[in-house]
Amino acid sequence: MTDTAIITGGAGFIGSHLAERLVNAGRDVVLVDNFATGRRENVAHLPTDRVSLIEGTAAEVLSDPAVFAGVSEVYHLAAAVGVKLIVDDPAGMIATNIDDTIAVLRACVDAKVRVLVTSSSEVYGKCPVLPLREDMDLVFGPTTASRWSYGLTKALDEHLAIDLARRDGLKAVVVRLFNTVGPRQVGRYGMVVPRFVQRACAGRPLEVYGDGGQTRAFCDVRDVVAALTMLMQNDDSFGRVFNVGHDRQVTIRRLAELVIQQAEKHGSPGATIETVPYEAVYGEGFEDPPHRLPDVSRLRELTGWTPTYTLEQTVAGLVADELSRRQRGAAGSDDTAVDGRNA
Ligand SMILES: NC(=O)c1ccc[n+]([C@@H]2O[C@H](COP(=O)([O-])OP(=O)(O)OC[C@H]3O[C@@H](n4cnc5c(N)ncnc54)[C@H](O)[C@@H]3O)[C@@H](O)[C@H]2O)c1
Repeated sequence: MTDTAIITGGAGFIGSHLAERLVNAGRDVVLVDNFATGRRENVAHLPTDRVSLIEGTAAEVLSDPAVFAGVSEVYHLAAAVGVKLIVDDPAGMIATNIDDTIAVLRACVDAKVRVLVTSSSEVYGKCPVLPLREDMDLVFGPTTASRWSYGLTKALDEHLAIDLARRDGLKAVVVRLFNTVGPRQVGRYGMVVPRFVQRACAGRPLEVYGDGGQTRAFCDVRDVVAALTMLMQNDDSFGRVFNVGHDRQVTIRRLAELVIQQAEKHGSPGATIETVPYEAVYGEGFEDPPHRLPDVSRLRELTGWTPTYTLEQTVAGLVADELSRRQRGAAGSDDTAVDGRNA
């Protein structure tokens, strides 16, 4: 049996959907997670005869060659994610995102397995040209502004993967994920859609930072994990970098309106929009790229991938889930943070 996939960060938001997709395709899956931001409940519904969970850091767990028995591929999703973690503890974030990735990639070279590395649209920094293409220059701000450190760690991860692909023949593909949304994403670490959904379903004001004219392109996680598996299965993807995201952008104000409309449609009226200056949330001098839109033609040409969910469909599903959770008396999805960007 050599058809098992390892997912590092497998109990996280995207990792749990990827596990679900692989299991539905008949695969066995090993999830590796240290539960820094992941949750056991994300994967509690997966069949235990097909899915096993190893608790620990990706570096620790994959340093044991025995873990690769029967394994053909590794999806490396483990990372310190979210604005709060980045701003609170840049050094810890840098260590996780660099050290674990080096260890995972080296282990994949030794085990001779394929690997997919999840990078981020944050690597584009404040690149002013849209849509963002994989071969563009990356533009970061000064190192005194900690918000750029996350994108820089992801850019270094990309260098590591590309270098090992060239020098050691590692079958490595890099994906730059843009804003990904869907069930099981939490607002605690700064993600805008779950924060808005939770607020609207509670009839509370949705906080839009700045004037709300900034845009983002949101892709449903179920479409994103489809792209990841397509790339992993395509030999022509290795040694290359691919954007993965939706190519339709929306202003954050429009997103807030959409969430409020859906909440009203599902019987939860009363939410309003409140604008909050960026400085009030992040302090003086915080820079947030006003727009971030991927060019996905490279991915589309190689795999034929195209997103199937509209933002309206994703938001409608999230609102319905949140309201039914509230009716059951369960705690709403996480809304503890006001520290997230509108991204
Ligand atoms: N969600 C997005 O919009 C988005 C956008 C760009 C990139 N990404 C990337 O996608 C990947 C998955 O992100 P997500 O949104 O699912 O976030 P997430 O926080 O839900 O998932 C990350 C998972 O990694 C785990 N983890 C952290 N450090 C670890 C370590 N050292 N060893 C093992 N596990 C560890 C966490 O506990 C968590 O389960 C990350 O690499 C992230 O940078 C996500």
